[in-house]
Amino acid sequence: MKRILVTGGLGFIGSHTVVELQNEGFEVVIIDDLSNSTIGVLDKITEITGIQPAFHQIDLKNKKEVKKFFDTTTVDGIIHFAAFKAVGESMHKPLDYYENNLGSLVYLLQQMRDHKLDNFIFSSSCTVYGQADELPITEKAPVKTAESVYGNTKQIGEEIIKDTCKAYNLNSIALRYFNPIGAHPSVKIGELPIGVPQNLIPYVTQTAAGIRKELSVFGDDYDTKDGTAVRDYIHVVDLAKAHIAALQRLIKKNNTKSFEFFNVGTGKGSSVLEVIKAFEKITGKPLNYKIVGRREGDITAAFADTTNANKELNWKTEKSLEEALEAAWKWQQQNEI
Ligand code: UFG
Repeated sequence: MKRILVTGGLGFIGSHTVVELQNEGFEVVIIDDLSNSTIGVLDKITEITGIQPAFHQIDLKNKKEVKKFFDTTTVDGIIHFAAFKAVGESMHKPLDYYENNLGSLVYLLQQMRDHKLDNFIFSSSCTVYGQADELPITEKAPVKTAESVYGNTKQIGEEIIKDTCKAYNLNSIALRYFNPIGAHPSVKIGELPIGVPQNLIPYVTQTAAGIRKELSVFGDDYDTKDGTAVRDYIHVVDLAKAHIAALQRLIKKNNTKSFEFFNVGTGKGSSVLEVIKAFEKITGKPLNYKIVGRREGDITAAFADTTNANKELNWKTEKSLEEALEAAWKWQQQNEI
């Protein structure tokens, strides 16, 4: 049985990936510092799969702790989620973001080099493309100057991994996520936004639940079908499965380059108003929203060309936007956050 380390394994995407790894017969070891997650998620994962993953509460910025872990544990692959991810916050706390997102990455890669470990999957983001000139976005689209510190940590992270793979003969895949949403069908794990949500779907579900008075739609003067911004919303379970596909590619040595990257989305763009309409259909009641000005830093439209991921990873999305919204709504109702 292959043992896989999942950093940030109690977070939103991490926890769903742990479940899928266990479903596929992998043994999972989680590292999480609980800075943006709760230990209760470990029990929920166990309830879903019937298997308790090993857990270590380690801050990956602590180089000594990281070394200690790898001196005593060997793994066949690493899926690295642990990172700060709030775009707005990253602009006010650049050094925290660079230290946390890049420092921890360097320490992990050093341990892989020292212990001769291989197979590294990195959480990247479609934010590396900025506003792409052509839609849908292929992997050939150029990486543009990052709009945010968060985005820059993903760009630099990919560069660090690429150089490391070349120098030390390691193999890695970066997955450039579009907009992950939804929750597990068991409704035991999902997204737990702390404070006021910044992302669209948690804000929508909290508004429907009466926690927020009204949703602000940021801009209706974009050059899109209805004037609101367009994104590619992918169900988190589909996204989790892409990690297993990428890991299998590395383990089976099917990769063609030591460092590869793939767009992970549905290939379908949905506008903010389309999301609202789909959500209203699911709940059967109108959502309280108003149109306001554009949000700073937002792009007009982004959705993935998934040809490469479909072909090379032998993976495709199975769930619709409606299924993802329904899961998010069930999760909201159960958690009342
Ligand atoms: N939106 C609203 N009202 C809200 C929140 C969002 O209208 O209250 C709109 C945004 O303006 C945007 C769309 O809904 O047009 C999606 O916004 P999100 O904040 O949910 O997602 P983003 O596309 O802005 O950001 C996401 C991730 C980032 C990542 C980025 C890459 O949250 O981590 O995609 O493009 F960097």
